[in-house]
Amino acid sequence: MRLLAPRAEARYVDATVNGGGHAAGIMERSSPDGELLGLDADPDAIARARERLAGFGTRVHLVHANFRALAEVARAEGFDSVAGVLFDLGLSSDTLERSGRGFSFRRDEPLDMRYDPTTGITAAELLARSSERELRHLLRTYGEEPAAARIARAIVEARARTPLRTTGQLVAVIEGALGPARRRIHAATRTFQALRIAVNDELGSLQVALEQAVSLLARGGRLVVIAFHSLEDRLVKQFLRNESSSVCRCPPQLPVCVCGRAPRLAVLTRKPVVPTPAEVAANPRARSAKLRAAERL
Ligand SMILES: C[S@@+](CC[C@H](N)C(=O)[O-])C[C@H]1O[C@@H](n2cnc3c(N)ncnc32)[C@H](O)[C@@H]1O
Repeated sequence: MRLLAPRAEARYVDATVNGGGHAAGIMERSSPDGELLGLDADPDAIARARERLAGFGTRVHLVHANFRALAEVARAEGFDSVAGVLFDLGLSSDTLERSGRGFSFRRDEPLDMRYDPTTGITAAELLARSSERELRHLLRTYGEEPAAARIARAIVEARARTPLRTTGQLVAVIEGALGPARRRIHAATRTFQALRIAVNDELGSLQVALEQAVSLLARGGRLVVIAFHSLEDRLVKQFLRNESSSVCRCPPQLPVCVCGRAPRLAVLTRKPVVPTPAEVAANPRARSAKLRAAERL
């Protein structure tokens, strides 16, 4: 909230509104007439936000949409010049525990993993269709899983016997492939992260949405992004670095600069803001959060 600095008479976008926790904070601080556009890919989240934010009346606009379509949705809602855009990425505890869509390896549920269950392919379909090589690549790239080859082979062998339709089946395959060694994290952690990122094209969506967010910001407007895994945070960091740099992008053979490159952002967080030990103790899921912010020039 400090970095987003909400104020009255201004408009904000919460690209990942979920249950409306941050949104309520923005609405309170921008009262009496600040407005907010909230997006979420998950229709259940939009329903929760609608209930939670009902008291703010017509100051709140909620749309079920992927933030890939941020610019289009914002323009359609009249939010084409805004004072702030917030991304609080990933999934909520509520979705992890109650969606029934297979995000958690601690529950036995259908292997779906889509934030938006109305579109796209499920994790079960992805596991059924991908070749061993594709699976290995996916686990390595999105899960940074050192045992990617072993797990990919085990998945291909298991699905030849019976289709993998539930999280319980997948966890058993991973545990079978990795054996009983003691680990710091659950054996299925990295595989589940990789599948979730792939099913939702998390990095692709974020890249295009960040571009669009900058073009919606009015001068002095703030972009605030909270990432929960290193791949996501790396992408945000790189994006902010590029947008705040004035280094010419012209091909080296050109004698003079024709790109006229000017930075669009000033980074406000030299290092990412991370939770305090007290916050992590109260909410262990906050432990991997990294927040970065920038201001539109
Ligand atoms: C960590 S939660 C946000 C919590 C929220 N800030 C609050 O205070 O309640 C992340 C939300 O982002 C949504 N989400 C993830 N990827 C999305 C995307 N590409 N487009 C739109 N929403 C997305 C998820 O459905 C989830 O509801």
